[in-house]
Amino acid sequence: MAGRLEGKVAAITGAASGFGAGAAKRFVEEGAKVVMGDIQDDAGQALADELGDAAVYVHCDVTKEDEVANMVDTAVEKFGQLDIMYNNAGVVGAVGPIATTPAEEWHRTMDIHVSGCFYGCKHAARVMIPRGTGSIVSMSSTAGIMGGLGPHAYTAAKHAIVGITKSVAAELAQYGIRANCISPAGMATAMVAATMGDHTDLETTRQNLAQTSPLKGRPGLPEDVVNAALFLASDESGYTSGLTLTTDAGLTIGSGNESPFGEYQPFMAEAGKRGV
Ligand SMILES: NC(=O)c1ccc[n+]([C@@H]2O[C@H](COP(=O)([O-])OP(=O)(O)OC[C@H]3O[C@@H](n4cnc5c(N)ncnc54)[C@H](O)[C@@H]3O)[C@@H](O)[C@H]2O)c1
Repeated sequence: MAGRLEGKVAAITGAASGFGAGAAKRFVEEGAKVVMGDIQDDAGQALADELGDAAVYVHCDVTKEDEVANMVDTAVEKFGQLDIMYNNAGVVGAVGPIATTPAEEWHRTMDIHVSGCFYGCKHAARVMIPRGTGSIVSMSSTAGIMGGLGPHAYTAAKHAIVGITKSVAAELAQYGIRANCISPAGMATAMVAATMGDHTDLETTRQNLAQTSPLKGRPGLPEDVVNAALFLASDESGYTSGLTLTTDAGLTIGSGNESPFGEYQPFMAEAGKRGV
């Protein structure tokens, strides 16, 4: 049986870890060729080697336009085209109360998320428009939908990604190109484990998230986000554009009334109430 991405070529930023690495593996399993970009070169190259001829790793710092452009050009040179651009790279970034958030950290956080997503959309459009097809998927967050779910700069940046997605979707529809974004709640990944204070192991993170999940006993898992990315990347979502697809068990529509992080994420006490 043909894979769900058979014959397609994808570029994924932040592909050395977390959702990006999960998507690289799954996209290849589903028949895609993948260009993986990240700043963690050893981890990115190791995963690309594991995935074989269907994957290529390139160093790509998303704050540098020429490196994002190079990633897109690598997809075209190596695999002939670009069908899917997955703007996934991200960091938690600046944390703490607004009155003391350092401007330098604010700008760095915005640069990684917002400029990175802009460069990805821009250079994907450059090669997708002449072919008249393509799917751009970007990573927002529940903090891109509501305040109080993450640090200030992160919240602002993730709202901006929802905005870029809608704006780009509106322009590129005339060329047959779709743009959508994904808004996960705090999922059990290394990024979330690292913000949870007294531990970094994933099993404890899963247990903590399961206890506080709006969906009884069910933590958010990386594969929930990878499944959403696969759907938006594939032709199965062929009539869907401009969407913010939540993977949050209904958190942002009011399900659950407990903090998914609570005591485990001290900086949320200043920046917000319930999440990443
Ligand atoms: N983990 C969650 O629960 C969660 C929730 C909502 C949204 N998100 C978003 O999902 C995306 C992936 O998160 P994750 O949990 O997989 O995190 P992760 O830390 O496992 O992976 C992020 C990757 O981005 C890379 N990266 C960081 N700065 C970069 C840069 N300047 N250029 C290129 N790559 C860079 C890192 O090296 C890393 O490999 C991020 O945009 C994050 O904000 C995560």
